[in-house]
Amino acid sequence: MEKESVIEIRNLNKSFGSNHVLTNFEMDLLKGENLAVLGKSGSGKSVLIKCIIGLYFPEQGSIKLFDRDISEFDHYEWDRVRQRIGFLFQSNALYDSMTIRENLEFPLRRHELKHLTDKETENLIIDTLSNVGLEHTIDMMPSELSGGMRKRIALARALILKPEIILYDEPTTGLDPITSREISHLILEVQKKYNTSSIIISHDMSCINIASNRIIMLIEGRCYAQGDYDHLKNMEDEKVKEFFL
Ligand SMILES: Nc1ncnc2c1ncn2[C@@H]1O[C@H](COP(=O)(O)OP(=O)(O)OP(=O)(O)O)[C@@H](O)[C@H]1O
Ligand SMILES: [Mg+2]
Repeated sequence: MEKESVIEIRNLNKSFGSNHVLTNFEMDLLKGENLAVLGKSGSGKSVLIKCIIGLYFPEQGSIKLFDRDISEFDHYEWDRVRQRIGFLFQSNALYDSMTIRENLEFPLRRHELKHLTDKETENLIIDTLSNVGLEHTIDMMPSELSGGMRKRIALARALILKPEIILYDEPTTGLDPITSREISHLILEVQKKYNTSSIIISHDMSCINIASNRIIMLIEGRCYAQGDYDHLKNMEDEKVKEFFL
């Protein structure tokens, strides 16, 4: 039996003026897989993610989330579907003037999980922080944490709503190789523990090798090649080879 797609993209076109960023881009994210989208800087990886979550509108093509075309969503439906999708921004985007606890409370309040008691909220925050090994930072400020720790907190904040899909935009950028590996393993653990489906946008080959099951190469605005790490590594194509030098 074919695996079900949680994201299905067909014939996607997105330009900014004469800059054709995505041209006839196609992909499926299958339930339970970690899919890496690999592409050079400026190739359109962040644009792709922004199209998926409805921040950018493509000129052409269709995007389905959980089998529903996003062009049919009203405000209320977007809100509901965004509860099912965790998003790790390229820049972490923690609120600097809030404690870690408040940063994690934020999505809960925004999505009206107000029925939780204070104690239940606290337990949920502690439990989510323990997934990333940072329970002890609950009352600290983001500025007191290292870059790697902030990345983990951003991941915890994406996890707190128990999303079915997680979109990671450059999860290891700016981290040293050891911390990058830790974050990559954490991404894999999250997939196993919660059976989430994820898109991992990156040009960090080590992260992609550790954390993903399948790779799509975004070159010239389209899905240029795909397969697992070893398959792509052994391809003769010059544009693919560049990534493995
Ligand atoms: N709001 C915008 N207005 C105009 N052009 C944009 C906008 N957002 C992105 N672009 C252009 O789209 C192209 C792809 O940008 P994008 O941010 O997706 O690259 P990327 O693959 O994520 O790169 P990086 O690895 O550096 O994050 C770039 O040429 C960029 O200038
Ligand atoms: Mg980007």
